[in-house]
Amino acid sequence: MFIAPYVASPMPVVRRMLTLAELKPGETFYDLGSGDGRAVIMAAQDFGANAVGIELREDLAKRALNSIDELGIERRVQILQNDIFKVDLTTADVVFLYLTTSANEKIKPKLESELKPGTRIVSHDYEILGWKPSKIDNFCENPKLGYPSHTLYVYKR
Ligand SMILES: C[S@@+](CC[C@H](N)C(=O)[O-])C[C@H]1O[C@@H](n2cnc3c(N)ncnc32)[C@H](O)[C@@H]1O
Repeated sequence: MFIAPYVASPMPVVRRMLTLAELKPGETFYDLGSGDGRAVIMAAQDFGANAVGIELREDLAKRALNSIDELGIERRVQILQNDIFKVDLTTADVVFLYLTTSANEKIKPKLESELKPGTRIVSHDYEILGWKPSKIDNFCENPKLGYPSHTLYVYKR
């Protein structure tokens, strides 16, 4: 079941989210709805993580796999063309979300039952209702212009 449309996070926003989540080398990173794979690729290439992207759309999963293949980082990045609700998240250290508030509400019970203590969850623009963020960051892509700006929520289980 699709729970959010495809809109890509701008690259500076992805970098900021991974930094806010304090993603470390060797950690396991999941992007739930990974689109063209940009967050999993950055997580592996620039942060040294083992990254897993879950993407239901076949064309986007293929696009991500092509990029991963071209970059030669298959050992570090996996793309599962699957439904978020069908994938086990118990090994995640960091979870990346760019969905919607209502989609977050739908996956909240799964996050609550599967994520181990200490997992960081970072969400672009949409909060997880009922959870208390450990950080809220207002990130401006172009500080000179003062826009576009993004609200980034960080949670810790
Ligand atoms: C707003 S986009 C975010 C893409 C990427 N995470 C980023 O930040 O650039 C949300 C993605 O979630 C995918 N999606 C929606 N429902 C899904 C589901 N149930 N399982 C897997 N992917 C899903 C959509 O196809 C879309 O690519």
